[in-house]
Amino acid sequence: MPETEKATNKEELSMRRIKIFDTTLRDGEQSPGCSMNLPEKLDMARQLDALGVDVIEAGFAISSPEDFKSVQSIAGVVTNCTVASLARCTKGDIDAAWDAVKVAKHPRIHVFLATSDIHMEYKLKMSREQVLASIAENVAYAKSKCADIEFSAEDASRSDKEFLARCYTAAVKAGATVLNVPDTVGYSTPEEMSSLIRYLKANVEGIDQVDISVHCHDDLGLAVANTLACVRAGATQVECTVNGIGERAGNASLEEIAMNIKTRADYYDAETGINTKQIYKTSKLLSSITGVPIAPSKAIVGANAFAHESGIHQHGVAANAATYEIMKSTDVGIPQNTMVLGKHSGKHALRDRLVDMGYELSDTQLDDVFARFKALADKKKSITNSDLEALALSYRRDDIPTYELVGHVVNTGNEIANTACIKISKDGQSFEEVSLGSGPLDAAFKAINRITDLDVNLESFSLNAVTDGEDSLGEAVVKISHNGEVYTGTGISTDIIESSIRAYVNGINKITAG
Ligand code: KIV
Ligand code: ZN
Repeated sequence: MPETEKATNKEELSMRRIKIFDTTLRDGEQSPGCSMNLPEKLDMARQLDALGVDVIEAGFAISSPEDFKSVQSIAGVVTNCTVASLARCTKGDIDAAWDAVKVAKHPRIHVFLATSDIHMEYKLKMSREQVLASIAENVAYAKSKCADIEFSAEDASRSDKEFLARCYTAAVKAGATVLNVPDTVGYSTPEEMSSLIRYLKANVEGIDQVDISVHCHDDLGLAVANTLACVRAGATQVECTVNGIGERAGNASLEEIAMNIKTRADYYDAETGINTKQIYKTSKLLSSITGVPIAPSKAIVGANAFAHESGIHQHGVAANAATYEIMKSTDVGIPQNTMVLGKHSGKHALRDRLVDMGYELSDTQLDDVFARFKALADKKKSITNSDLEALALSYRRDDIPTYELVGHVVNTGNEIANTACIKISKDGQSFEEVSLGSGPLDAAFKAINRITDLDVNLESFSLNAVTDGEDSLGEAVVKISHNGEVYTGTGISTDIIESSIRAYVNGINKITAG
């Protein structure tokens, strides 16, 4: 073996392993427009497991019966990683968290309490001594149920350092296995966060026996930088979300942290267990579930993240990719956007291509995607991997839909009223309704409301082209509300009216699925 190769292997052996704690389904799901139903959360949890995260924070079990059910169901299906539930420092919260995660192969209870003066005075109305006593009592109570206990000092970065160290010492003494240091309001700088980690390492008794975690919010756009500064300072776990979704400006983005650590392993002297080839698929899945698009310039997963537009750059890359490329798009699992299949391709070719792209479908799902593929191939000259990806993502929970779109006629104009006639089937029976509307979609959605007899309001609507060109697939996303809950529906077609109607019907199916 050449000397240089031996040296690299030796370096890899000594690298620190940074654990990835994913909170997409808890802190991420809390953000407006990102709520998910149970089947969607299960899809996401399975994908996070395949991505190789170490911990999935599945929810906040006490917060609602639905959240409890989600945490419990995720704990039942995830096979590799730890499943955590959040709990405040109360016995009721801890009992609910434990009841929800106890079926997991690796359960964790995540207990938190605020430690900054402002939170203690105005939110908790507790003194420092009361907070310390509550941490000791409740971490010990959680430990009596579960071996793996994480303690978070909410607003740690704005807490008095000496008091914070006493809180963490109390948590370790009571049995905590992970100490999490949140920058709850995204206020800190990388230097401040790394010096806080160093201070805690020097001042918390028993800290060398537990994991040191960091949880940064992005209010000032520093969540990833702050997280990485803490990794340099000795943090062994990082908390993050897919696409950086989360409260307000969001949480630190999983894909950015993972690719920083991988690309600059020389600098961080660390590695994660993330299978980076699953990153793109995970990001796309989340975006298709929530209907929240990924900004084109978003690092790692944005549509332009690997595109070279300027002539100088294109010339450099053609001569030697390393001139302008520090990562390869294939490293994060972005499929090469080549023309892959046509109208004469068979089901086997489609399945092989989807498997190459990371989509393993059951026979029934493949039949469905194949039928949609054939219909698309009749309308579209060339079918790219992006089209196939949109088809594969769109079948997801449409497996057994309550309502299916059979046909539609929509008339639109300026001087005469917009009208829509919609035909939908349910349990083998067809229903047809006609409606007027202020626009073509308003007319179509009103006709659907008449058929389903549901009181539904349209909250938002968006339309995106999946690929370039005049025969591009259009993906519509609707957010509709019913009984105070918001549901996301998505639909694709080369016809934007049809994709919008499909999106609406998809949203209605989510309402009826409960
Ligand atoms: O931002 C925060 O402080 C949190 C804690 C509950 C960990 O989300
Ligand atoms: Zn948070």
